[in-house]
Formats: sequence, structure tokens, C-alpha cells
Amino acid sequence: MSTILRMTGISKEFPGVKALNNVSFDLEKGEVHALVGENGAGKSTLMKILSGLYKADKGEIELRGSVVEQFGIKAMLNAGISVIYQELNLINHLSIAENIFLGREPRKKSGLIDWKAMYDHVEELLATFKVNLNPKSKVYTISPAFQQVVEIVKALSLQSDILVMDEPTAPLTGNEVDKLFEIINNLKSKGVSIIYISHRLEELKHVADRVTILRDGQGITTKPYSELTTDEIIRHMVGRQLTEQYPQADTKTGDEILRVEGLSKSGICSDVNFSVKSGEIVGFTGLVGAGRTEIMELIYGHKKKDSGKIFFRGNEVSIRSPRDAVQIGIGLIPEERKKQGLVLGLSVFDNSAITVLERYSRFGVLQRKLITEKVKKMIKDIAIKTPSTKQQTQNLSGGNQQKVVLSKWFIRDCDVYIFDEPTRGIDVGAKVEIYKLMQSLAAQGAGIIMVSSELIEIMNMSDRIEIVYGGRIVKEFAKGEADEEEVMEYSLGLREKGVPA
Ligand SMILES: Nc1ncnc2c1ncn2[C@@H]1O[C@H](COP(=O)(O)OP(=O)(O)OP(=O)(O)O)[C@@H](O)[C@H]1O
Ligand SMILES: [Mg+2]
Repeated sequence: MSTILRMTGISKEFPGVKALNNVSFDLEKGEVHALVGENGAGKSTLMKILSGLYKADKGEIELRGSVVEQFGIKAMLNAGISVIYQELNLINHLSIAENIFLGREPRKKSGLIDWKAMYDHVEELLATFKVNLNPKSKVYTISPAFQQVVEIVKALSLQSDILVMDEPTAPLTGNEVDKLFEIINNLKSKGVSIIYISHRLEELKHVADRVTILRDGQGITTKPYSELTTDEIIRHMVGRQLTEQYPQADTKTGDEILRVEGLSKSGICSDVNFSVKSGEIVGFTGLVGAGRTEIMELIYGHKKKDSGKIFFRGNEVSIRSPRDAVQIGIGLIPEERKKQGLVLGLSVFDNSAITVLERYSRFGVLQRKLITEKVKKMIKDIAIKTPSTKQQTQNLSGGNQQKVVLSKWFIRDCDVYIFDEPTRGIDVGAKVEIYKLMQSLAAQGAGIIMVSSELIEIMNMSDRIEIVYGGRIVKEFAKGEADEEEVMEYSLGLREKGVPA
């Protein structure tokens, strides 16, 4: 094997934050090198330096044996480095082909875009992945997994032989993840080198050749994956032994708080029935696109249902908008935080305080001190890495931005909390704290709905599991009643209620 990339002694500081401190990292031709670490450890920053988006304060980058003298996004792209960022960067209303060739469309002699050449080329590229996509399809019409494929194809069309994937599986579920692994292994065999960032450590066994662990901006160790256990990786990441990944609580369940009967909306879901009791965590799982998020949005009044009833503490309620839902005591913590949950230009404090402004105002005067105390406690509880409450949220790492969104709902009192993918992009240590916070809300009498694509999380943290397939609840399991395989089979639509396997 030959070393294709070597980063040596990289340091980077932001106001009040030492993001990277003398970090070294290298990459062999045709290897998958996993980069792991807690939220805010410096993973994305290191990759942004590699891509030319940020300039390192100190350090050296060597590519194929020669020291890089010219930095900047263009220079690094030309050098064969492509980064697929934590948040997908495709333009939704453009086609797959347009996205791939944005800004460098093939042209005819006349100067007009050569559409045929463009579509043919994209079709060829897609075929190498054995995915059946139409290059003319608009990006918003395809699933997140395929959007990920489009990003990869785009990178490859740039002739990149170094590919960075920053949490590529965050928006994906089971079989889509498998598909991605297939693609990665296929790329590897073609000699492409991949840097792979993920918080789902169980994925590493499928792809990683080597692992580098960052903690607090420092390189802790680099080792072949085969020489590490998951426990060791976690210990290096968090700097201590993590005793329990899935804390258990034995909260007594109380009265029913929320009941949904016959909820239907054409094209989204049909005849959805379930209930949530006080003290209970009800897990919703299923594939991406199965309708989990949409069902929650219907309940929350984001979208209008065709039929069905919602009961709150035994009384039928009419929820026509999220405002109604919040007034009744239902809080929804959305999946796409950047779009729905967070104002990136505002500070950590303002984002966290948004939901409690009314409650903690007295005669129109904001009780800033009281809220500040609550926000500070939250920052400590779920370890939000920020120099102060005044930091703009857009300067936080991906995982820490999610924590801010969660914190604003943890601060507010609700009777029912609907968490949609609460731990997406969140590191192992902070996950435990989030589970504990959910359990303590349940212990105080709230009912919790947790939508999650992570099967292990659903299996370990829910008192009951509802499996959604094709807009319907196809199966309900009590805790411990099903194994992973069974849950997966129902999620894939291979089994139906009452139909034996
Ligand atoms: N533009 C910026 N301005 C100020 N601070 C920043 C900026 N970008 C990153 N940081 C800080 O640098 C540190 C490292 O952030 P980085 O995004 O590299 O973390 P990460 O390891 O990718 O975390 P995550 O797992 O949450 O994505 C964090 O404390 C973050 O707040
Ligand atoms: Mg990151």
C-alpha cells in the first residue's frame, strides 16, 4: 500500500475554541480510514481544512508525496479531494444530472449545454453503482439514500480519488445503509481512498480498515480496526469508561395521555391507532419514507389529516396547528433541525429560550436570569460544547447544534414529547445523557414518543415498539418481546399483522 495523503501537526483555533491541536492523520490508497470522536472533537474541522474550506493555523499537508503549496477549495478539488458534508448540499429543485454537473455543464460548439451528453454521462456513472435512477429526476423526489449516492457520483465525476464522508448514514436506515456499504467497498476495490466519519460505531466493522480517534481537538490514537474493540474506541473517545450505553429505568406507567384513532391522510398514512401513557417511552421505527415523521406532523397539526381522532387525557381534541398542539401540552422536536428547529444566526441562549419566553415573562418582562440558569444547566447536563451561551449556533459542531434544539424542549414542560430522531449525529456519551433526560421526563409523568431509525436504540430504550410500514402500523411489540431480526422483517414489509412468517 502507498500513502496518498499525510496531514501533519495540524492546528486550528476559533475565537474561544481550540478546535485542533497538533493533529496528524494519513490515508493509504484504497483504504477506508474511520475518523471518530465526540461532538465537537474536531472531525469536521479537520476535513474542512483538507477540502480547503478552512486554512490551518499550523501544519502541513502532503498529497501523493508532495507538500501542498496551494490551498483553497478549487485547488483541493483539482487535487482529487471531494468532501460530502454532514448536511447534504444538493439543490432540491434541480435534476440529478444538473446537480452533478452544476457549474461545469458539458457544452456544444455553439456554447449551449449539451444535455444529451450530460444525461448519458450521468447514466453511465449511476450504472456503475447498479442504482436505477433517472438522471432527469428532481433531487427532492428521491430518497435520502439515493441523494447520498448522487453526492458520491458527483464526487467521482470530478475524478476524485480521495473521498470524505462526514456522517453519510445519519439520514439512512437499515437496507439503505447496507447499500452504501456495498458502494464503499466497491469504490475501495477501485483504489479510491475514503475517510469515513460516523457516530454509529457498530458500522465500522463493515467498512473500516483503520480508525483514528480525536478527543478535544487532539489525536488520541490510530490503529487498525481489527486491533480495537468498540469499548476501547468509546473509552478513547470520551476519556473514561462508559458503564452503560442504554440506561434502564423502571418507571411505573400511569394513565393514558394521548390516544390516536384511525388517523388517515391520503398518500401518507391510513388507519393509524396507538396510545401513550404517562411514564412511557413508545418507540416508532420503520424505513425512511415509511411515514413515521408524517404521522407525527399530522398529530402536531403541521399538516391536515383527512380523518381520525386525537384524544388527550380521554377527551377528544382538535389540533389544527402546532400552536394548538403546544397549548394542549404536546411538543414535537423535529427531525430536520436546521430547517425547523434552529435559528442558526441566533445565539445558543436565544435558541434555547425560544420556547419558554412566554412562561418566564412576568408582566412582559423577561426573567432572563432564571432562564439563563436553566440554559446553563442544560449545557452542562447534555455537554453542549460552546465557549458561552452567547455563541452563534452556526459556529457549533453538527452534534452540538442538535443538542441545542433538544435543550429548548427539555427546558419546557410538556405532557407529551415527540422526539423525531433525537440522537441523530450525537456521540455515544451524550446519547446516554439524552436517554436519561427522557427517562426523567417520563418519571415526572410525561409520555414520550421516540421516532428512530437506529434499531438498537429503539430496542433498548422503548417500553413499546410500533413498527411503521407504508403509512400503517404493521406491528406492536412490548419491550423484550421481539428480537432485532423480527423488527427488521416488519420494517421491510416482509411480515404483516396476523400473518405468520
Ligand atoms: N466556524 C466556526 N467558528 C467557531 N467555532 C467553530 C467553527 N467551526 C467549528 N467550531 C468549533 O470547533 C470545534 C470542533 O468542531 P467540529 O465541527 O470539527 O466538531 P465535530 O467533531 O465535527 O463534531 P460533530 O460530531 O458534532 O459533528 C467545536 O467546538 C466547534 O464549536
Ligand atoms: Mg462534524
